[in-house]
Amino acid sequence: MKVVLLPGDGIGPEVVDVAKAVLGALVPEVELEEQLFGGAAIKATGEPLPPETLAASKAADAILIGAAGLPEYDAAEVRPEQGLIRLRRELDVYANLRPARQGAIDFLIVRELVAGLYYGARGERPDGTVFDTCEYHPAQIDRVARRAFALAGERANRLTSVDKANVLDTSRLWRRVVAGLAAEYPEVELEHMLVDNAAMQIVLAPEQFDVLVMENTFGDILSDVAAGMTGGLGLAASASLGDGGPGIFEPVHGSAPDIAGRGIANPAATLRSVALMLEHGLGRPGEARALEAAVDDALVSTPTPDLGGSASTDDFAAAVLARVAEPAAP
Ligand code: NAI
Ligand code: MG
Repeated sequence: MKVVLLPGDGIGPEVVDVAKAVLGALVPEVELEEQLFGGAAIKATGEPLPPETLAASKAADAILIGAAGLPEYDAAEVRPEQGLIRLRRELDVYANLRPARQGAIDFLIVRELVAGLYYGARGERPDGTVFDTCEYHPAQIDRVARRAFALAGERANRLTSVDKANVLDTSRLWRRVVAGLAAEYPEVELEHMLVDNAAMQIVLAPEQFDVLVMENTFGDILSDVAAGMTGGLGLAASASLGDGGPGIFEPVHGSAPDIAGRGIANPAATLRSVALMLEHGLGRPGEARALEAAVDDALVSTPTPDLGGSASTDDFAAAVLARVAEPAAP
């Protein structure tokens, strides 16, 4: 098995280094191949997703990304983040899984990732009006909804489909397609919730949720709200999955230029993304559970500055490595 590592920019290489060490300890037989990506790739080749990086990614069993983005490219024509958008589309990873877990909170947002408002027709009219449009084909809703039903079936059997069906035609289609699948998943209890109410419920009563599924933009926003409710960006992980091809696993945070190079980035979000990779990309759920437990322990014993502690990235890595090296309980 092969994993392609795309460290990218800013703190990306710092947190991917930790992931490399942990993967080496947990699954030493997996081959790790590093490739250029993001701003680092623009500097070396002129483009954020060079052909070699794309080819290696397509041939891999899973891809781990650090972060893409550098302030110097903010106003540039060719930008690091374009590499990310293109890679998602090339691999057709339509289901973005973003778990939120802390104390009594334990839910999973499934965000549709390759359609909706971020991919619909856009343009500018002669009068200067600029428009973006939200578009869905029923098949694009069907496949992500099926994934969400299946994931709910592996968890607490509850699925909340989030939409704005009182206003948007795409949301009415969304609701119809999701509702039409319910009979195929009789063990899963389905509810529909309007997105504005869902935002409030995630803040006021997040314990009520198990799995939520929603349009691309809704998912982008609500999953950041969920991250804010469960420890912040240093902890939030994601998995982007398609059918058959390799998944993309990455922390939700960006390149954090304000702390890059100081050795204080929290690697927990990346390590939780590695746990998602072990489970959904490499078929190693046992190692995934062990890594999640080791990260949970290190968050208590060895917190980094973003959590109010004073541990360095290396200190946190050492705590996790010590824990995963312990012989498993009989
Ligand atoms: P950011 O996520 O990089 O940082 C936001 C704040 O959170 C900063 O104060 C940062 O220090 C802190 N932070 C983030 N991750 C952390 C970690 N692991 N440990 C400790 N503190 C952490 O978002 P920002 O500043 O809006 O964007 C910076 C660059 O990253 C931009 O170029 C942006 O386009 C890019 N970006 C890339 C993403 C990706 O690669 N998926 C996602 C979001 C932003
Ligand atoms: Mg976002």
